Amino acid sequence: MKTILVVGGAGYIGSHMVKALAGTGYHPVTLDNLSTGFQDAVKHGQLVVGSMADRVVLEKVFREHEVAAVMHFAAFSQVGESISDPAKYYQNNIAATQVLLDAMIAHDVKHLVFSSTAAIYGNPEYLPINEAHPKQPVNPYGRSKWMVEQMLADYDAAYDLRSIALRYFNAAGADSGGELGECHDPETHLIPLVLQTALGKREKITVFGSDYNTRDGSCIRDYIHVEDLCNAHLYALEALLKGAPSTAYNLGNGEGFTVREVIDVVQHIMQTKISVKHGQRRPGDPPVLIANANLARAELNWFPRHTNLNQIIQSAALWEIRRQMESDSESLSEMINRKKRNIS
Ligand code: UFG
Repeated sequence: MKTILVVGGAGYIGSHMVKALAGTGYHPVTLDNLSTGFQDAVKHGQLVVGSMADRVVLEKVFREHEVAAVMHFAAFSQVGESISDPAKYYQNNIAATQVLLDAMIAHDVKHLVFSSTAAIYGNPEYLPINEAHPKQPVNPYGRSKWMVEQMLADYDAAYDLRSIALRYFNAAGADSGGELGECHDPETHLIPLVLQTALGKREKITVFGSDYNTRDGSCIRDYIHVEDLCNAHLYALEALLKGAPSTAYNLGNGEGFTVREVIDVVQHIMQTKISVKHGQRRPGDPPVLIANANLARAELNWFPRHTNLNQIIQSAALWEIRRQMESDSESLSEMINRKKRNIS
């Protein structure tokens, strides 16, 4: 049973990955500082609470576990926040990643699957975007990921650290077993926000920009199910362990949907009308991101299974509904307990 160190395994995609690794016969060990992740999202293997920026913690992890490969999900990933607080992004996404890479090399761990992003491409020069597309990120988040990809190429040339960078388009959806889903605090991502609005947890959804040159004026994104992302990681891991060279792959469905179309799908699934407000463009948002993921299909034999937006949003909706029911029943039992205490 090979041990895989999942850095950021308590986050949205990382936690699904830990489950997928355990289900495929790997032994996942999670390293997460819980800055954005959740302890109870780690359903398998050991959780080490600590930061990849902490070399002492890394030394301990690499000494205690015979790590065959590392998967790195521990980045901050909000486009808007990266513009208002770039230092946070350069510190964590680049500087802390370098501490991790150096510790890997010191312990002769030479395989890395790296979570990269479509945000490295910037405003598309053509669509769909393939891996050869120019890299001109339009926000610090995208720049931080592109810098790490460049660092990885140098680390391979100099230190034989082989890596596969997976450039996700928009991750969405939830675990089909119902145990895990998308959960950020604060939430900034479109699909969970629209679902929470449909469930009455939020008053309205604001569409960031209605004057883009797209079919309805709102931004277009390519939504890819989190379980399909995890499968691509498994294939990338196997390829690296079998000796594949360093490379990068786009991961998307190859179909784009506007913000308004996402809202319409949610309204249809939830059978409810949502209050929609038109807001300003969000700085750093490329108008359209659609993947050409043919390379991952051809070289990793990766075929996404949840290619339908309704299906993707349905899985996210089930998770949101379950969460809402759990929090409602918790507040109900708190209320009952309070009443009981008052009576006695
Ligand atoms: N949006 C709104 N209103 C909201 C939230 C989002 O209109 O309240 C819009 C955004 O402006 C964007 C689209 O919905 O056009 C999707 O926004 P998300 O915040 O859900 O996702 P992003 O496209 O900004 O970013 C995501 C990941 C990044 C990744 C990128 C790649 O968070 O890590 O996809 O496409 F780089």
